[in-house]
Amino acid sequence: MAYILGIDIGTSGTKTVLFDETGKAQASSTHEYPLYTPQNGYAEQNAEDWWNAVVNSVRDVLAESEVNPAEIKGVGLSGQMHGLVMLDGDNNVIRKSIIWCDQRTANEVNELNQKVGHDKLIEITANPAITGFTAAKILWVRNNEPENYEKCRHILLPKDYIRYMLTGEFATEVSDASGMQLLDIPKRDWSDEVLQKLSIDKALLAKVHESPEITGEITSRAAGLTGLKAGTPVVGGAGDNAAAAIGTGVVEDGKAFTTIGSSGVVFAHTSNISIDKGGRVHTFCCAVPGAWHVMGVTQSAGLSLKWFRDNLCWGEMETALGMNVDPYYLLDRMASDVPISANRLFYMPYLNGERTPHLDPNARGSFVGLSTMHKKHDLIRAVMEGVSYSLRDCVEVMREMNINVSDMMACGGGGTSKLWRQMLADLYACNVKTAHNSEGPALGVAILAAVGTGLYKSVPEACKAIIKIDREQAPIQENTEKYEKVYTMYRKLYPAMKGIFAELAGLQV
Ligand code: XUL
Repeated sequence: MAYILGIDIGTSGTKTVLFDETGKAQASSTHEYPLYTPQNGYAEQNAEDWWNAVVNSVRDVLAESEVNPAEIKGVGLSGQMHGLVMLDGDNNVIRKSIIWCDQRTANEVNELNQKVGHDKLIEITANPAITGFTAAKILWVRNNEPENYEKCRHILLPKDYIRYMLTGEFATEVSDASGMQLLDIPKRDWSDEVLQKLSIDKALLAKVHESPEITGEITSRAAGLTGLKAGTPVVGGAGDNAAAAIGTGVVEDGKAFTTIGSSGVVFAHTSNISIDKGGRVHTFCCAVPGAWHVMGVTQSAGLSLKWFRDNLCWGEMETALGMNVDPYYLLDRMASDVPISANRLFYMPYLNGERTPHLDPNARGSFVGLSTMHKKHDLIRAVMEGVSYSLRDCVEVMREMNINVSDMMACGGGGTSKLWRQMLADLYACNVKTAHNSEGPALGVAILAAVGTGLYKSVPEACKAIIKIDREQAPIQENTEKYEKVYTMYRKLYPAMKGIFAELAGLQV
């Protein structure tokens, strides 16, 4: 039997899963690490913490599975996107990594718009200047820590730093590189024009591969530390969302997935490049060679419900503890008692600003329509519906762009709720399914390793053999009609509040 290894360098921890060639998980291990917030809006992590978590989790799965490392045909890497890792001339890490959710770069976003131009950025990088993307972080270091920028010889993304530690190669792949805002998305290679306008030396960047390509082999040093066999191939892999797409079989036109994790993502595959001129959704290269994906992000999806649970559901949390169930199970049951529209109550899920379709760091969460009749059940339902309306906003932009979204997978913590999946099915007016295997990004990059090392001929062929559908929910016509009325009204809320949000951000008392 051949085996494949998937390593996902996430924000809360690194998850490593060993699969056999049919996609069956043999062993899994997660090691967590801290996130540092030295100032409001900053988010940093230690690249060394990621490396230690990779070493320990790989050792764990080898020990647990007792698989002979010689039978592992390939390794795939997935990871949180957009993070900045800088190495000096001796290949040592210069400073903590500034990660995807860091928001310090408002000035650098202006600099990007001035030096490259708003329209040109959308034309080449398929996205407007975004605070969380890597280019703005590189400029921030140059503007604020010139001594660090001068020392810098290599710029890497989180998973590509791990690749360097495993193989000694400076390499990346198209899906993750798309989130740096330095890639020419239609051409799938670095943009000389953007690099030159920003005066960033191309020699600092890694070599760009397609995602299933072999980018290097495990060195004897890495073999000694991890227990893997020296010479095992490591393929390009993918950014976490592109990897989750492979892991849920979203590899053909018409297919899409929705993740309700801390943030919410709607991801649709497209074999023809499609860029929203308004920059409301991201267009990135996807991990299927020669194809792209369009992605909308709701910044606070599961996070909205977590915020509500942590601040307003102490009683429910205690009850759940006594019943030995997850508190979200109770919240879900409470929300299912309430009719569509939460008795005319809206929730806008903009706790930490928003990305899609309103790129607005000042937007904030709100309940609209509260009355004395409302109970906690209504508020919970309103939160779940508000997140679903915001995800429908993402689908709406995609449909405007003529991207076919007709076959939707659901994943993430929120995707395990039958009620939430039904809301999505009713609001998207299409079937919503879950995959039998829930390993998501780790499975996705293990599949890329299987393709890159010749176990399967192509990514779609491997997905057909490996991904199995578990549950499927169809839209309920009566619900769809009701939601349509409520959603039409929801769409009027942000434009009405936009000015207030901006004023609130500047309010001094
Ligand atoms: C994608 C994004 C997140 C990160 C962290 O644009 O910001 O999904 O990749 O998971």
